[in-house]
Amino acid sequence: MGFFNQLFGSLFKKPDAPALTAEQIDQIQASFAKVQPIAGIAAEIFYARLFTIAPEVQPLFKGEPGSPEMAEQGKKLMATLAVVVNGLKDLDAIAPTAAALAQRHVEYGVKPEHYDKVGEALLFTLEKGLGDAFTPELKAGWASAYGVLAGAMISAAYPGYRRKAA
Ligand code: HEM
Repeated sequence: MGFFNQLFGSLFKKPDAPALTAEQIDQIQASFAKVQPIAGIAAEIFYARLFTIAPEVQPLFKGEPGSPEMAEQGKKLMATLAVVVNGLKDLDAIAPTAAALAQRHVEYGVKPEHYDKVGEALLFTLEKGLGDAFTPELKAGWASAYGVLAGAMISAAYPGYRRKAA
């Protein structure tokens, strides 16, 4: 049991909740593959939603909404999400990447509290992109997967930060 799994087992999972199962991971990977061909549109939906529910984070981004810079930013986000999603079965392998990404985010002015908003915008985007295929079970899987990633990024970049209990 490695670093990520320990985190998942202790900090980010209610003691009685099931871990992310291999089946859930398969579903998440298959659903993300469906979103990838429309990655550009998905990224637009994502930022539009994020800036609606968390307008305070918009100034952290250099590009204006709808600008080529934001399109570029959207591509980077989707590419990085692809790495994470494809690595869900071996979280220890992506831990150093996630930690470095989180450290860079501190420099962008990102606060731990922003992670939940990004998670919300991500789930919204998947719901729009996948329609009926975004079943409650799949949504729960994505929510846990994002929770693991965000939790690990937050503990790597903001030592001592305690998330409010949900
Ligand atoms: C948890 C998953 C997240 C992923 C996978 C992700 C991915 C990325 C990537 C790939 C970049 C490009 C630059 C780099 O690699 O350092 C980036 C930049 C950035 N991200 Fe994230 N991010 C995440 C969370 C967040 C959160 C919670 C915020 C809070 C608002 C945020 C705000 C930003 C900002 C402000 C930039 C710099 C934009 C610019 O230079 O214009 N990200 N992100």
